[in-house]
Amino acid sequence: MRTTDLLPISEVAARSGFAASALRYYESEGLIDAQRSGGNQRRYERNVLRRLAFIRAASNVGLTITEIREELDRLPHGHAPKRSDWQDISNHWRGRLNERIEALEKLRDNLDSCIGCGCLSLDTCAMANPNDIAAARAGGPGAAYLPPLLRRP
Ligand code: FES
Repeated sequence: MRTTDLLPISEVAARSGFAASALRYYESEGLIDAQRSGGNQRRYERNVLRRLAFIRAASNVGLTITEIREELDRLPHGHAPKRSDWQDISNHWRGRLNERIEALEKLRDNLDSCIGCGCLSLDTCAMANPNDIAAARAGGPGAAYLPPLLRRP
């Protein structure tokens, strides 16, 4: 790839909205790659912008760095990912997203009723969680009636 096609960190930071320190962090975490110029300055292929957009979207829906890395590791290294490569991620990621959509819907639809957290403060708790029976059912701390995704530490 011609060096003229490579972007300096300042341009990638400006276009992606990530601070240069975040770009260095994602590189250290193996989420993005950078080449070095003759002056040992980072230079990025333009397709890094799509990876960064994916990282932003994934972290905004609650994926951890580890989960994001698992998805990005499905992309080929050494050449710009093609549409089919991203399709592969999209198919794999669909399950994770559906799980989050279901969890968020449960949260949206159940926040005004008992969530089995042990507070016993709502009128619905008397019916749904008498004497905090949820504590025994939860299999651990937290709101027993919320999806595990919303209860993970
Ligand atoms: S909402 Fe907390 S125990 Fe019912």
